[in-house]
Amino acid sequence: MTQPLVLGIESTCDETGVALVRGHDLLVDRTATSMDQYARYGGIIPEIASRAHLESFLPTLDSALDEAGVGLDEIDAVAVAAGPGLVGSLTVGICAAKALASSIGAPLYGVNHVIGHLAVDAVAEGPLPQRFIGLVVSGGHSNILLVEDLATDVRELGGTLDDAAGEAFDKVGRLLDLPYPGGPHVDRLSQQGDRSAIRFPRGLAAGKDKDRHKYDFSFSGLKTAVARYVEGARERGERIDAADVCAGFSEAVNDSLTAKAVRAALDTGCGTIVVGGGFSANSRLRALIGERAAAAGLSVRMPPLRFCTDNGAQIAAMGSALVRAGVAPSDWDFSPDSGMPLTQTWMAPAGS
Ligand code: KG4
Ligand code: ZN
Repeated sequence: MTQPLVLGIESTCDETGVALVRGHDLLVDRTATSMDQYARYGGIIPEIASRAHLESFLPTLDSALDEAGVGLDEIDAVAVAAGPGLVGSLTVGICAAKALASSIGAPLYGVNHVIGHLAVDAVAEGPLPQRFIGLVVSGGHSNILLVEDLATDVRELGGTLDDAAGEAFDKVGRLLDLPYPGGPHVDRLSQQGDRSAIRFPRGLAAGKDKDRHKYDFSFSGLKTAVARYVEGARERGERIDAADVCAGFSEAVNDSLTAKAVRAALDTGCGTIVVGGGFSANSRLRALIGERAAAAGLSVRMPPLRFCTDNGAQIAAMGSALVRAGVAPSDWDFSPDSGMPLTQTWMAPAGS
């Protein structure tokens, strides 16, 4: 029997993503972004992002349907990001999805876009194990999740007490006068630096904190240490080796992320770690998690780079997992949830 065709719509931040997934097969994935409009502001302007979604949605949908050679009447279910994200951006995608789903008579699933960052690997590289440790790292999240079932049972083992990994990278980028968003620039510079030239502190890695916050992260102390180092050197008129600063900083962030993800997998008896989110494009994270997981006898799944940033495929993949799990679609009146908990995989209908 052919699997249902699921349309995924992503509009949590600056990317308008539209994708089609059938089972575990990705038919098409189209993205438009308004990121190039924010460099001069040094951050995303929500009103510009919402307007850009409004302008990009229909052209992106049309080109995705064209490329896949699919008509609207062939779509069996629609999935849309319901959160976490910017309320205005989410609202545009959700309105579009509701209109579309109701006009073609298809069920609608409001899905968690962060869990989608893990789900996308199933359509990019093949089915995921039933049970695994999820490491979601982005501009807004740094969490370790115990995934018992991607569609219906996600548990939060830990998260960041302050900044997210991507956010910390963006702030260090700003400190070093790098263009926005700083993450990819800090990553690029770090590859030219010496990882052991400057040793920056690891948060929650010692004493009582180590036990109390076994799977949690804290990057604000690290960020302050980097700021002190840079400002101190500037005041003394010393030359700063930005590559070494980035390499030392990146090592501190990725040491914490990878050590705790591996610990969580061993503690819970999961054989696989799945990494996802914009920050999973980070070169040092990809290398270090690979090394440490292999040393611990674990396997790692990481989406190819083009699926790390927000995309429609992650939403369609999540929709496809929910349809396969046989859960009920969302009610028509659900709203965006900018702080959607990671344990909530989709907007379950009232009373379910
Ligand atoms: O998941 P995402 O596209 O958006 C959300 O935050 O939901 O993640 C974007 C974040 C930004 O903070 C960006 O700087 C960071 O991911 N990022 C990176 C890299 N590529 C993107 N950070 C470090 N190294 C990278 N290569
Ligand atoms: Zn994201």
